[in-house]
Amino acid sequence: MVLEASHIAKSFGDNEVLKDVSFQLQEGSVAVLLGTNGSGKTTLINILSGFLKPDKGEIRLNGVRINGVEPNILNQKGIGRTFQDMRLVENMTVLENVLLAFPNQEGEKWWKALLPMDDVKREQEINRQKANEILRTCFIDDIALRLAREVSYGQQKLLNLACCMASGTSVWLLDEPVAGVNPKYREMLSDVIKQEKNKGISLLIIEHNSDFITDVADEILFLNEGKLRKFQSYEAYRNNKKVKEAYV
Ligand SMILES: Nc1ncnc2c1ncn2[C@@H]1O[C@H](COP(=O)(O)OP(=O)(O)OP(=O)(O)O)[C@@H](O)[C@H]1O
Ligand SMILES: [Mg+2]
Repeated sequence: MVLEASHIAKSFGDNEVLKDVSFQLQEGSVAVLLGTNGSGKTTLINILSGFLKPDKGEIRLNGVRINGVEPNILNQKGIGRTFQDMRLVENMTVLENVLLAFPNQEGEKWWKALLPMDDVKREQEINRQKANEILRTCFIDDIALRLAREVSYGQQKLLNLACCMASGTSVWLLDEPVAGVNPKYREMLSDVIKQEKNKGISLLIIEHNSDFITDVADEILFLNEGKLRKFQSYEAYRNNKKVKEAYV
């Protein structure tokens, strides 16, 4: 497995959010993480991406323990994420947001100023071409030069995926990638996700939309009362008595 969490616990004061959470994410698969509001889904993603430290438990990426590793280092090691509240650089263009997400922005290093201008320009041109290719894959190449804050909500969600792609990471943790998106963009987001999964990207996705889940999920993880339960299908999850009780 690519990502493995064992016996994770996390409390905020008296609020015991995660009690004992274990799961394994397989290479080239999509696990959808479900649970009621406030059940701790985002907290779990914050822990897996290094934004929060667990009180107990262990996290391994490709077999290597990654507890306590800072988010930017985890990003370099292969973990990409999106946020429930998007977090794009709103005053930059769509294209610039993607360029910023490249792991080595060689053109931005200070010592590059010492190189002949042609070399720097060539490198920047290569990055721009790569970024445009990513934007095409994400169906947003036509809005490359628009400011991120000016494009539609669905396009911003696609841009989030484009930034994950640009970061070159192989494990994506997505916090509600289609929430509030209309069906047209939801299908585009599904298509991008399935395409990347088929290329070997492993995804853990928090999402509630049933059409989306049916389309992309290989397995369902249900977070309830601080523990995680695994289901092989969305149907099995929906028919489960404990699940039904949790949503009453
Ligand atoms: N940094 C924090 N400090 C204190 N409490 C927190 C913090 N982050 C989360 N919590 C609490 O932990 C619980 C789980 O929150 P979390 O955001 O992980 O839930 P969620 O399942 O993502 O909910 P939603 O479906 O609403 O997004 C909530 O009670 C929340 O108030
Ligand atoms: Mg959340």
